[in-house]
This record gives sequence, C-alpha cells and structure tokens, in this order.
Amino acid sequence: MPDKGVFNAVVSSNNHVGHCFYRVSLEFSGAGADAFGSFRPGQFAQIDVSDVALPSAEAIPEDLVDSSKRKILLRRPFSFTNVTVDGNKTFAELLYRVVGPATLRMTTLSAGDSISVIGPLGNGFWIPNDKKTALLVAGGMGTPPIQFLVKVITADYPKIEVVAFAGAKTAEELPFENRLDEISQQLGFSLLEFAKYGVRSMVATDDGSTGHHGLVTDCLSQWLEQDDSARDGVIIYSCGPEAMLAKVAKIANKGKIDCQLSMERRMACGFGLCQSCAVECRVNGTNETIYKLCCEDGPVFDGREVVF
Ligand SMILES: Cc1cc2nc3c(=O)[nH]c(=O)nc-3n(C[C@H](O)[C@H](O)[C@H](O)COP(=O)(O)OP(=O)(O)OC[C@H]3O[C@@H](n4cnc5c(N)ncnc54)[C@H](O)[C@@H]3O)c2cc1C
Ligand code: FES
Repeated sequence: MPDKGVFNAVVSSNNHVGHCFYRVSLEFSGAGADAFGSFRPGQFAQIDVSDVALPSAEAIPEDLVDSSKRKILLRRPFSFTNVTVDGNKTFAELLYRVVGPATLRMTTLSAGDSISVIGPLGNGFWIPNDKKTALLVAGGMGTPPIQFLVKVITADYPKIEVVAFAGAKTAEELPFENRLDEISQQLGFSLLEFAKYGVRSMVATDDGSTGHHGLVTDCLSQWLEQDDSARDGVIIYSCGPEAMLAKVAKIANKGKIDCQLSMERRMACGFGLCQSCAVECRVNGTNETIYKLCCEDGPVFDGREVVF
C-alpha cells in the first residue's frame, strides 16, 4: 500500500450545499493520487488552510466573528465522503460544516486553488467476512465516512445487506443534499445519498422536523427489536457525537453485536507525536484501562473497548 505523506491537492469545486454545509472536491495527481487512491472509509486527512483567505465581513456568521480572527496554526482533520480513481488521478469529496476559523476559511476555496494535505491517516473501518447485515449509524457531521462506507460495502461485499440510520438536531442540520419524496420515505429510501446504492435509510431529528421525532439510536433499537434472529451476523458501524456513540456501544454490547465506532478528538499532529488525542480503552474486556491515540490506533475502535 502506498505510504502516507504530504501532498498538494487541487480544488476542482467548492459548493454551498445547504445551511452551513459545503462540499469541496479535491484532485490528487502523482504520488498523492497513489497514496489517496487506497484511502479507506474512516481514514482521515490533515488539511492546511493557514494561508486561505477569510470570507468578506458580511459573509461571516455573527457567532463566528470573534473566532474568525484566530490564526490557524494547526492542520485540521477531515474524512472523505467519496474517493474515486480515474486513470492517474484520484478525486476526493470532502463534506464540511462551518464551525470555526478553519472551516470558515475553507468556504473561500475555489477551483484551481492548491492545498496541502497529509494522509491517508488512521486505520479506517474494517469489514469481517462473516457478516450478513451492516447497520450504519451517522449522527450530525459523522456522515462523511458512513457515506463512503455504504459505497464500499455495496460494491465489494454485495451479499451484505446495508441499512443506514442518520440523525441530527433538526432537518436543516442533516448534512445531506437530497431527500426523497414521501413515497420513497415510506419505503425506507429516505436519503438519495444512500438510495443510489440501493440502501434503505431511516432519519431521526431531535425536534421532529423530519423523520422520527427523537434520537437516531431509537431507530437502531427498534430495528434490532423487530426480530431476535435479525441480530445474527450483524455489525454496527457508527460515527458522530460522543453521546450518540456511547448509546450505540451500549445497544451493541447489550445485544452482543460487533460494533465499530469512529471517535472524534481534537488533533494537533494527526500521526502520533503530540499525544493530544487520547481515548481511554479497556484491556481485553477487563476493568484495566489504557490510553490509545485516536489518530494512530483509531479513529475507528471496537465498541467493546472504548470507555465512555
Ligand atoms: C478524524 C476526524 C474526521 C473529521 N471529519 C470531518 C468531516 O468530514 N467534515 C467536517 O465538517 N468535520 C470533520 N471533522 C471535524 C473537523 O476537524 C472540525 O470541525 C474542524 O477541525 C474545525 O476547525 P475550525 O477551525 O473551523 O473550528 P475550531 O475552532 O477548531 O472548532 C470549532 C468548535 O468545533 C468543535 N470541534 C472542532 N474539532 C473537533 C473535534 N475534532 N472533536 C470534537 N469537537 C471538535 C469544538 O467544540 C470547537 O469549539 C473531523 C474530525 C476528526 C477528528
Ligand atoms: S493528534 Fe497528535 S498524537 Fe494524535
């Protein structure tokens, strides 16, 4: 497998895709295309936006006016929603939410700009051979690696049935561009991003503005409760806020279901130097715990090992 490294990527497009979400497409060539051509769902890249300009004062949301003035010293970690190889080029799609100075600057990237990207970093999700069903649970901005995982499982493991669950606080905070009509929703094909791979999806919002009124983990529990035998050969994959991951792990552990969780930590370096990204983990199911590094040992961890 080609090594990770520092590569330049050229921006092909950067579009506002609703509320506070943007989708930027990156093009890698040369050694970067080789390295990122083997990028797996759940891995991530560290992106340098220190030299990228801020948007005009009128385009800065009020709650980010103060933080926008902060200098960007560190790279920022991002997953990709899709990676495709075409000839000697690799194309990566990054879906991001504007939350602070770095993501605010990213909104001003335009076609032809070049940015420095370190990667591929981290372990990514793994897919055991004996699974019949994969339940994918995305919360808020946890959706990018889950979207990419749907594509990989349906392409490389066609015998595995995939069902996706997506939750957010409100409908507008669901980071999806396209929702399908009512009939498609009744059939369970709510989100086009999953339906295009033939994957059913269930949506939940805290305020009930779309889908199930409540937590996305309620939908997961209901799906598992429909039939005890439905648990055979099931694996759960999840990415999202820590409180949601803790609930997913609890549901999985109670049902003795395999589960992989993509954890989020603030990451200064992204490759094991700064020790800023510790995740407390159990040692082989005992009460003894150790700290692992989210960037190197993760970000994907076995749901049984993480201490919440
Ligand atoms: C492995 C990994 C993959 C990621 N993939 C994506 C992605 O695909 N799309 C996307 O939009 N974001 C993703 N993120 C989060 C992204 O890195 C942060 O939103 C970004 O660094 C924010 O930078 P900023 O300067 O704009 O805001 P900052 O000022 O750095 O942060 C704004 C606020 O966001 C919260 N925050 C920022 N980073 C983190 C973090 N790592 N963990 C928990 N809370 C945080 C903090 O509460 C902070 O106050 C990922 C993070 C990790 C660790
Ligand atoms: S981010 Fe530096 S050690 Fe993990």
